[in-house]
Amino acid sequence: MNNSVKPDRVIIFDTTLRDGEQSPGASLNIEEKLTIARQLARLGVDVIEAGFPYASPGDFAAVQRIAEVVGEEQGPIICGLARATRADIQAAADALRPAAKKRIHTFIATSDIHLQYKLKKDRHEVLAIAEEMVAFARSLVEDVEFSPEDAGRSDPEFLYQVLERAIAAGATTVNIPDTVGYTTPEEFGALIKGIRENVPNINHAVISVHGHNDLGLAVANFLEAVKNGARQLECTVNGIGERAGNAALEELVMALHVRRHYFNPYFGRPIQSEDPLTQIDTRQIYKTSRLVSSLTGMLVQPNKAIVGANAFAHESGIHQDGVLKHKLTYEIMDAQLIGLTDNQIVLGKLSGRNAFRNRLQQLDFELTEDELNRAFLRFKELADKKREISDWDLEAIVNDEIQQAPELFHLEFVQVTCGDRSQPTATVTLRTPDGQELTDAAIGTGPVDAIYRAINRVTDVPNELIEFSVQSVTAGIDAIGEVTIRLRYQSKIFSGHAANTDIIVASAQAYVNALNRLSIFRQQGRTVHPQRDHETVREKSAIPS
Ligand code: KIV
Ligand code: ZN
Repeated sequence: MNNSVKPDRVIIFDTTLRDGEQSPGASLNIEEKLTIARQLARLGVDVIEAGFPYASPGDFAAVQRIAEVVGEEQGPIICGLARATRADIQAAADALRPAAKKRIHTFIATSDIHLQYKLKKDRHEVLAIAEEMVAFARSLVEDVEFSPEDAGRSDPEFLYQVLERAIAAGATTVNIPDTVGYTTPEEFGALIKGIRENVPNINHAVISVHGHNDLGLAVANFLEAVKNGARQLECTVNGIGERAGNAALEELVMALHVRRHYFNPYFGRPIQSEDPLTQIDTRQIYKTSRLVSSLTGMLVQPNKAIVGANAFAHESGIHQDGVLKHKLTYEIMDAQLIGLTDNQIVLGKLSGRNAFRNRLQQLDFELTEDELNRAFLRFKELADKKREISDWDLEAIVNDEIQQAPELFHLEFVQVTCGDRSQPTATVTLRTPDGQELTDAAIGTGPVDAIYRAINRVTDVPNELIEFSVQSVTAGIDAIGEVTIRLRYQSKIFSGHAANTDIIVASAQAYVNALNRLSIFRQQGRTVHPQRDHETVREKSAIPS
């Protein structure tokens, strides 16, 4: 991407792997992050914020791996977040080193409430830190983004000064965060306009926006910001992120696409121009949404704009009649535009390895030989139980089988008896990494309760089950069921996900999957949170070189 200071289109900065991963329960392992990063590159995002390298050695390694694998010359810019400290900025630069195009994103809060209670610093100190740390970041990389955190509640006059100093020190993008999702569209648009008019050197940087959805206004705020000169939008797939989440990538991209004639004049284009306003391949949107949802365990609500299960379903008679007469009566966009194709029945019991491999290639899955072998075995098992296998089934198999959390406990065996005249009873066997097989049994109020009690007896990992859900991948009695669960341990949430035609087996696997994530967290210990852990300075040796 040409990082010109006046882009004539919108730059999509994806922060699913950083702000999105800060959502309770959304934590991802390194392989899962890499899978998402690859898909984001296919989607065509301009910048991937791959994480906060200083948080832990695991976060550092994930950013470094994404920089290596996805950060090629033709690929997106790879960005790492850093608080305005030397240690954070150095860690980001080190992790990003393998990327062809790298960006350090550093931030410090500017609202009085953050200065007084979080930073315990005055405005002069914050100005000096912002200037010094942007200059330090710029001494390490060419592309530096600066964010005045909580800009939405900051005094605009102070904001102008901080931004001017950050740009003078070398910031190439200045990002305006509505950190707590407080502003309204009109206010946010006016804030961007004020910055454009009052920061003397603003033409030397791209104006970016970042916003949370606490009042459900994030996307509306961004669109108003675009009209007032913002040219980079920071967003996440499915809108996941801290608290109520971030502005949703798919909503922004499709709003700019469907209403391009409305937005064209703000880019100095002729109203009727059909040139896209972003470089996103919209046909990858649905697939990206499904991938992020299945790996993070953050389910998409059925009525969610663009990617929800009902977004293109026409239930009411009047609507169906209208859509049959002419699609445009009730549809403003074609489902195919986001890659939501008809659920094609493509494979069956007699399909061979080649047909399987070819279909996965057509669906843009890049699997290693080993992953392909495992997925094929799983496909054969499924084909014995289910006559017709659709693209959505294939996607469920691949997401489930290939992209699993590292296993501390492996589910070897599960058996349940239940019915209206018996006490639900489960027996489970788990295998530990040293090959030990542990078996136990329990009774419960239902089959899933019995399984979870039996697993708890074996693993002895303290946790509280806070959410359990089952969804079917396709219609039909032989459909694959996807189970997602969320566990709480010491105020942190862990999710687990599994897919199987037997929902009892899927329930057991999803639980073991979540327990594995929880146990790994207990082994690795706490990570630094970029916004809440203001004082933490990690030992330098914790970051691998
Ligand atoms: O919400 C926020 O302010 C952030 C910053 C780190 C940009 O996520
Ligand atoms: Zn944020």
